Amino acid sequence: MPQQSNSEQPTPSTPNTWSQRFESALNPAIARFNASIFFDIELIEYDITGSQAHAKMLAHTGIITAAEAEQLVSGLEQVRQEYRDGSLQPTVDDEDVHFAVEHRLTEILGDVGKKIHTARSRNDQVGTDIRLYLRDKIHGIRQQLKQFQSVLVSLAEANVETLIPGYTHLQRAQPVSLAHHLLAYFEMAQRDYERLGDALKRVNQSPLGAGALAGTTFPIDRHYSAELLGFDGVYGNSLDAVSDRDFAIEFLSASSLILVHLSRLSEELIIWASEEFRFIRLKDNCSTGSSIMPQKKNPDIPELVRGKTGRVFGHLQAMLVILKGIPLAYNKDLQEDKEGLFDTVKTVSGCLEAMSILLAEGLEFRPQRLAEAVAEDFSNATDVADYLASKGVPFREAYNLVGKVVRTSLAQNKLLKDLTLEEWQALHPKFESDIYAAIEPKQVVAARNSYGGTGFEQVRQALERSKTRLAEHS
Ligand code: ARG
Repeated sequence: MPQQSNSEQPTPSTPNTWSQRFESALNPAIARFNASIFFDIELIEYDITGSQAHAKMLAHTGIITAAEAEQLVSGLEQVRQEYRDGSLQPTVDDEDVHFAVEHRLTEILGDVGKKIHTARSRNDQVGTDIRLYLRDKIHGIRQQLKQFQSVLVSLAEANVETLIPGYTHLQRAQPVSLAHHLLAYFEMAQRDYERLGDALKRVNQSPLGAGALAGTTFPIDRHYSAELLGFDGVYGNSLDAVSDRDFAIEFLSASSLILVHLSRLSEELIIWASEEFRFIRLKDNCSTGSSIMPQKKNPDIPELVRGKTGRVFGHLQAMLVILKGIPLAYNKDLQEDKEGLFDTVKTVSGCLEAMSILLAEGLEFRPQRLAEAVAEDFSNATDVADYLASKGVPFREAYNLVGKVVRTSLAQNKLLKDLTLEEWQALHPKFESDIYAAIEPKQVVAARNSYGGTGFEQVRQALERSKTRLAEHS
């Protein structure tokens, strides 16, 4: 039975954009539910750029005339200007950004505007838009990672010989160079940078021309439009082209790892700023106060970064779930890909910016306190064992002996450096007066000169490697 028009439903301000097949307007609540214009407007400039390339391709292949393509390209440029100056005001009747642009283009150009959608579908169009958007944003995030890395390098450079307790299980383990600690985050950011670069290869493939799902009857040139848009290649299967969002998952996954890294650093900064640690002091420009406790200075910035990881992990999970059950090819479920992506881009970018500022100008290390910290514990115990082992005592035997020394020293409220030479020699005849130098914190760090270790020589080399990598970043 043909649908009856429902007189109780308000007539939309513009007719449906879909075909004459529809007699009645959408229920207004359903129209709002269905629409993506409220959020996909974020894609408008990419949509316009994509459409301009499509118009040029249509002329290049003789599907429309060169004059028509010129009109389309400049009409689209006008829509872009109207969007930028705020005069373009899409409504729910536009449904999505693609229709919004086409509607306005047709208002500007009349019948020629109606030619823009020849040989394409919103399905390949939206796929093109998201890829252009992500490509752009990935470039931006990689620049921010680079900035974050260079802040780490500067801080590291100034702190090669600053010592800080190194932990395992959050128990004092062995002291390390502060630069070494900071450069560990450089390495994580380096992997993040590379991972995004790798994801970019799959983001930068053109689905344009795949049509709704099966290709098109027009003699299009997909490679031509792909080249105009700076894509590295085109999807080889039209069904895959319009239904693939793997690249979005890769981006969300790489973003989740960036946040994992920033969150771990945040956790350290929060601990270090606590009264119990006092390794860093937060400066006024990057910390906040309490509304009731006048003495408080809170590490809100790293706490927020740590807290924001949740939403990014959530977006990754959401995208995996959206994709897992849908049959080929396009399904409206895919409209749900956008808000999570947009929010991820904003979150990752905001966190990277905040952490770079925090490290560059929002905190200072407390050298005095750090020096005390590395001198007041048993984190040189391994070095006593290594001392004996290097004099031929089997390591396990040396290890057991030092364990005993730590136990008796603790009972006497002494540190290893407080033992007299007689006491050392009573423990083992191989101890000589050079034991004191061997357990000095500076020497403990300097001695770990194996490749990638915390020895100052190694750290200086690592700094050089880091700078070379930074210089290689595009
Ligand atoms: N707004 C849609 C989206 O974001 C555009 C594609 C619509 N395609 C369709 N066949 N209804 O996914």
